[in-house]
Amino acid sequence: MNTNNRHYHITTFGCQMNKADSERMAGILDNMGLISSEDPNKADIILYNTCTIRDNAEQKVYSYLGRQAKRKHKQPDLTLIVAGCVAQQEGEALLRRVPELDLVMGPQHANRLQDLLEQVFNGNQVVATEPIHIVEDITKPRRDSKITAWVNIIYGCNEHCTYCVVPSVRGVEQSRTPEAIRAEMEELGRQGYQEITLLGQNIDAYGRDLPGVAKEGGNKYTLSDLLYYVHDVPGFERIRFATSHPRYFTERLIRACAELPKVCEHFHIPFQSGDNKLLKAMARGYTHEKYRRIIDKIRELMPDASISADAIVGFPGETEAQFENTLKLVEDIGFDQLNTAAYSPRPGTPAALWENQLSEEVKADRLQRLNHLVGVKAAERSQRYMGRIEEILVEDTNPKNAAQVMGRTRGNRLTFFEGDIAQLKGKLVKVKVTEVRPFSLTGEVKEFVLV
Ligand code: SAH
Ligand code: SF4
Ligand code: F3S
Repeated sequence: MNTNNRHYHITTFGCQMNKADSERMAGILDNMGLISSEDPNKADIILYNTCTIRDNAEQKVYSYLGRQAKRKHKQPDLTLIVAGCVAQQEGEALLRRVPELDLVMGPQHANRLQDLLEQVFNGNQVVATEPIHIVEDITKPRRDSKITAWVNIIYGCNEHCTYCVVPSVRGVEQSRTPEAIRAEMEELGRQGYQEITLLGQNIDAYGRDLPGVAKEGGNKYTLSDLLYYVHDVPGFERIRFATSHPRYFTERLIRACAELPKVCEHFHIPFQSGDNKLLKAMARGYTHEKYRRIIDKIRELMPDASISADAIVGFPGETEAQFENTLKLVEDIGFDQLNTAAYSPRPGTPAALWENQLSEEVKADRLQRLNHLVGVKAAERSQRYMGRIEEILVEDTNPKNAAQVMGRTRGNRLTFFEGDIAQLKGKLVKVKVTEVRPFSLTGEVKEFVLV
């Protein structure tokens, strides 16, 4: 098919992996000569990159899709694509639900988009959900930002957390080689990116599926090794990584972060619950005592590090006392940020079949109580920034105040200050913090660090 003058639109739901996949798929579409469009109603090809982590994420996709399926009746040459985790979960069933669809493709197939679209343009309705070895992307991602970039280092997840759909929709762990990761980072350095976030659902598992075993046994390519290996790549100033799993988190990793100046002082380590019995039912593979020891070690070696996490309330069978153990953990640790969610039963996961499900009222009540505490603790954590000089990487204008720019501290706190975005975008600026809120800061410029 002639792709001249045809426009595409991508809407992305879900986590950073999906955002990274969307950027690679956009790169493939650009490479095919298609033109990107912000407005789905002006596009000839619409791609929804979907998330199914909780039921509300999945339902959102169906409502978006319904609207575009209707449009297809008036514009038959409209191409409709569902990619990502709902595509993988539903597969063929999606075609029965939305017959207007042209292509259903799981996350492992993101880099094959061109090949799959060619089949569609030849008149086929295509479903690509079989497990495959993820091919290295040969085109360049179309990245949303010119300042911060994602780099996948490991795809998939081999854990069996009893609430979670990710392993069934993302497949088994597949690590990219250190060489491929370094090459991508070198290119980003040349392009002037300032911050790189290494991505994996269980990033501490990095390398364990790569061939070759270290002399002393064990993994030859751990995340710590990778950080040392890529740290001297020139051009950028900050490295982040997510998501850490307490089960595999090592002291060596903390030491690497403390030692390597570009690695930012921020750890995202989901704990899910503060109760050992629930952690066991979730099959998380650690206790709250172990989690606390990890945080103690981080604070011993990197006293100012920010800590963020994810937690679930209302897991099947959670008693009031067990929920209070989660509150206690949050009270004791004092997270800089916590993503909270009410448990949502997911198709194909063990916990969804258990009979001890809690009511929506109990879940909503616990979520609200937890969120309240999270706000109080985050406000306390923000206090330590007051009056301090912080390094901010300027990303954009403050959407609520055009006279201000915004960026993040190394600890990942969103920070606003007065300035001209044309002059400051992508710059590292030293800012004196003059106002603190639970999840953001305001400051004034002290000096430019780097151009
Ligand atoms: N790999 C990461 C998290 C992936 S999913 C980890 O191991 O922590 C992101 C977050 O969504 C999880 O940390 C969890 O808090 C939440 N989540 C996952 N499944 C969920 C479910 N069924 N109901 C509610 N929240 C869920
Ligand atoms: Fe899901 Fe657990 Fe894997 Fe995280 S580690 S993606 S919560 S199965
Ligand atoms: Fe959602 Fe898939 Fe990410 S289910 S959270 S987009 S891995």
